[in-house]
Amino acid sequence: MHHTEKSILMKRRTLGEHLTSVNIFKEYILPKIKDKINCYTWVDLFAGEGNLILPILDLVPEEKRIEFFRDNIFLFDIQKEMVERAIKNAESYRIPRMIAEKNIQVKDTLKEYPLLNVKKPIYHITNPPYLYIGYIAKHKENFGQLDYFTASLKGLQDLYQIALMNDLQNEINQMVYIIPSNFLFGHSVSNLIRRKFLPWYKINDAIIFEKKIFENTGVNVAICFFERTTAKNSTIKFKATKINGEIKEREYILSHKNDYRAGTEFDDYIKSQEKNTLKISYYLTKKEIDNNPGNNKVLLLNSKEYKNGEYIKESFFVNDKLYEKIIRNPLFIRTVDTGNENGRAGLYYIKDVFGTDGIFVEGNTYRTNPIQVFIEPYLSLKQLKQLQLSFNQKLNELRAITDSEFMTTYKYSNNAKYTRKYLGLSQAKQLLEVIDIKN
Ligand SMILES: C[S@@+](CC[C@H](N)C(=O)[O-])C[C@H]1O[C@@H](n2cnc3c(N)ncnc32)[C@H](O)[C@@H]1O
Repeated sequence: MHHTEKSILMKRRTLGEHLTSVNIFKEYILPKIKDKINCYTWVDLFAGEGNLILPILDLVPEEKRIEFFRDNIFLFDIQKEMVERAIKNAESYRIPRMIAEKNIQVKDTLKEYPLLNVKKPIYHITNPPYLYIGYIAKHKENFGQLDYFTASLKGLQDLYQIALMNDLQNEINQMVYIIPSNFLFGHSVSNLIRRKFLPWYKINDAIIFEKKIFENTGVNVAICFFERTTAKNSTIKFKATKINGEIKEREYILSHKNDYRAGTEFDDYIKSQEKNTLKISYYLTKKEIDNNPGNNKVLLLNSKEYKNGEYIKESFFVNDKLYEKIIRNPLFIRTVDTGNENGRAGLYYIKDVFGTDGIFVEGNTYRTNPIQVFIEPYLSLKQLKQLQLSFNQKLNELRAITDSEFMTTYKYSNNAKYTRKYLGLSQAKQLLEVIDIKN
């Protein structure tokens, strides 16, 4: 890689920089603040080129712009180059350089919150740096950033969380944050920040992107509109717009009982159900076949050899015990949506889909390939059918309620009817273990 390219990349990783495009601001943020531009002081503490605030000037009549800027806009960034670019950007709105330099300054605002002597309350709009503490701790050039995570901020997991806490501690009333969606959906990476922050802020609006919006990061982000509350929240209800191939509305209820995590319906459902007595295991391995030779012929699908658009089939001779085990377990789990309506993740009959008695795997297992499911004790044919139907029905019900949030996005494709998702094997097991099997 070219030297300067590499150093740009290094800097990007170090400071968590990726620029917010003016378009995102104009499309998703500006419409919601445009009627209030005269009521607040507009601040971005991690301003980059200033694209999240400066376009507000478009709404101000040209003869009033300089005054508006001087009194109501303040931008900061730790990088001199960024501040220089933001100043140039302000100049392009006809703000004289002298005035721009006063309100656009270099500062480490994670370390020190700027004191602004302003008349109107602060409205903070920002796309803060994102950097996971695990990354920081592993990279020498980032070690200095560990200092942010001390005292009351100890235990937080990402730079953006430090930014949120600083706003809380400085009693900022209104904020718009562009942050990783894991703020809403994450477990260990965001439980603590939600527990500390969300008792004091409600979410008035959110736009959740299930697609890449920034050039330099694959992280999915959400735009969150926060407003400080006077009394502590124990639940937060909000409507969000989710954007992937299509646009959907979804309501979330966050509760302190779940560390204010969004999308807990799957876990809640599992917890609310009684467990059955089935023992579930996955995979028929080549090793098990080799260890159980005999006279019974079985035709098996080799889940790792894919030729001319299909998996290859192989015959083996196995002993009675393994033969019975294979034949009495005719179901497989499809963990990944195929992309068409009848190929959704779920339980299916191996015979129907592949025309074999079973599915084996040699060597490393792949969780996204078809996987034979083994159930103990063996179920009757009627019970198997009931298990399959109930499992798929419940899975699809939960997917509909949660917009499949408990699954992982497998591949973004804008033209598929739906976003293809992956169902974790442990989730499949959890669900199998609560299906009520009748005798
Ligand atoms: C994700 S970018 C924000 C881009 C910006 N919102 C825009 O629209 O152009 C994060 C910015 O925060 C800055 N930054 C990182 N650490 C900082 C710190 N401790 N104090 C102030 N700014 C910081 C980076 O230099 C970078 O420009």
